[in-house]
Formats: sequence, C-alpha cells, structure tokens
Amino acid sequence: MSWDDAFSNRYDEWSAVMTADVDFYVELAREARGPLVELAIGNGRVAIPVAQATGQRVVGIDSSAAMLEQARARAAEAGIELDLREGDMRDLAIDEPAALIYCPFRALLHLPTWADRRRTFERVAASLRPGGRFAWNAFAFDHHFAARVEGVHNDEPVPHTVRYSVGDNRIDIVLDDGAKSTLWWATKNEWLGLLDVAGLEVEALYGGFAGEPFDDDSREYVFVARR
Ligand SMILES: C[S@@+](CC[C@H](N)C(=O)[O-])C[C@H]1O[C@@H](n2cnc3c(N)ncnc32)[C@H](O)[C@@H]1O
Repeated sequence: MSWDDAFSNRYDEWSAVMTADVDFYVELAREARGPLVELAIGNGRVAIPVAQATGQRVVGIDSSAAMLEQARARAAEAGIELDLREGDMRDLAIDEPAALIYCPFRALLHLPTWADRRRTFERVAASLRPGGRFAWNAFAFDHHFAARVEGVHNDEPVPHTVRYSVGDNRIDIVLDDGAKSTLWWATKNEWLGLLDVAGLEVEALYGGFAGEPFDDDSREYVFVARR
C-alpha cells in the first residue's frame, strides 16, 4: 500500500502548506451542473469548501478508513454532510454520472503503475456525464529536486526523510515514526496517454492554480479534461 494509515495521524500538519488549490477546485465545482466526486478525499480539506460553496453534497472516495474518519469529523464540525465511501479509486463506481470528478494534492501519484492509472482513468471516463470534467494536479518530476532531498532529514512540516528510487521514478516520504507515503512520478506524456486511452479530451493544462500557462519551467501539472 502506498499510503500508511499511520501517515494519517500527521496529515493535518503535513497538508497545512497546501492552500492554493482550494479556490481552483471550488471554481470548477461551481461551474459543474450535477454530482461532484473527489477521488482520494483524505480529510476533506478541499471537499468541505467545495460543499460549502456549491451547497451540493460531495461524494468522497478514499481507501484509508483513518482519513475518512477525519473527513467525517471535520465535515460535522463545519456543519455539512459529505457522502464518504471507503474504496479504491481504481474501482470507482457511482450511481449517478458525475459532472465533475477531481483529485487534488497529487493523489494520483499514489498509484504505483501505469496500468493502475489507466484503470482509474477508464473508471473516471465511465463515471462522467457527457461533457463532464476530470481535474487533477501532480508534480512535474524534477530529478534535480529529488536528488537534492534524497536522504536528507527535514523537520518541516513533520519530521521526515525522503528516499528517491531513480529506477522506479519513486519518492518515499518516511516520517520519523516510520509512517510512509509513496509517490510514483509521471511525465506529461504519460498523463496525455492516459487521457487518450480513456477517451477523454484535454481542455486545459496549466502550470499552476492561478491558470498560469504550462511551460518548460512549470513544476506542477494542473489538468482539466472533458468527456
Ligand atoms: C495526499 S492525500 C490527498 C487528500 C485530499 N485529496 C487532499 O487534497 O488533501 C492522499 C490520499 O489518497 C488516499 N489514497 C491513496 N491511494 C488510494 C487509492 N488507491 N484509492 C483511494 N484513495 C487512495 C490516501 O488514503 C490519502 O487520503
């Protein structure tokens, strides 16, 4: 498993730096006419503002019972209801086709192989309404950065060490208590290939959440695709 449940204990602190994406996904949700689905919803960091802004219940899929428990508690505190479902995004199945499926905070990188991602993209395509959107963001792989941080202990935001497997394009984030989160980086062409095989079309590829154009110096893929 690429996500230790133990990592959930420090997720609030780990994710505190990531705030720039919330308005981006909220805006897409406002434009959607129909059900909203978040893949790998985690603690509801994005889904709660999405539900608040749209007045719609968000379906949230996650494989970690501990993360779903946090999402449940945070939603109750915010006075909203999320439709939380324990499951693997590779097996996504929803009753009513969605107008928007989104996957923030690089969570698709937790899927180990291209085949896992293909399965997920095919499930997404099958779960969208015609014209429905699929949006996600992921690191652009930066070997320089990975090489720089490999083996270095860092106290922020939670004490951890990064391990970098060159051969597997893989980053293991290992917290001092042993909890591990693993990311398999993917290139732009891998993402485009996934859209192609799933029969989805690229609507936009940004280099950031403010809609910056994607260029050679971009460090984040921010994709919006359409069925
Ligand atoms: C980086 S967090 C993202 C959480 C949330 N979307 C956010 O933006 O804060 C990654 C989440 O992916 C979930 N996850 C990892 N692999 C998964 C899978 N195959 N299916 C569903 N959820 C998965 C983990 O349990 C964790 O909650």
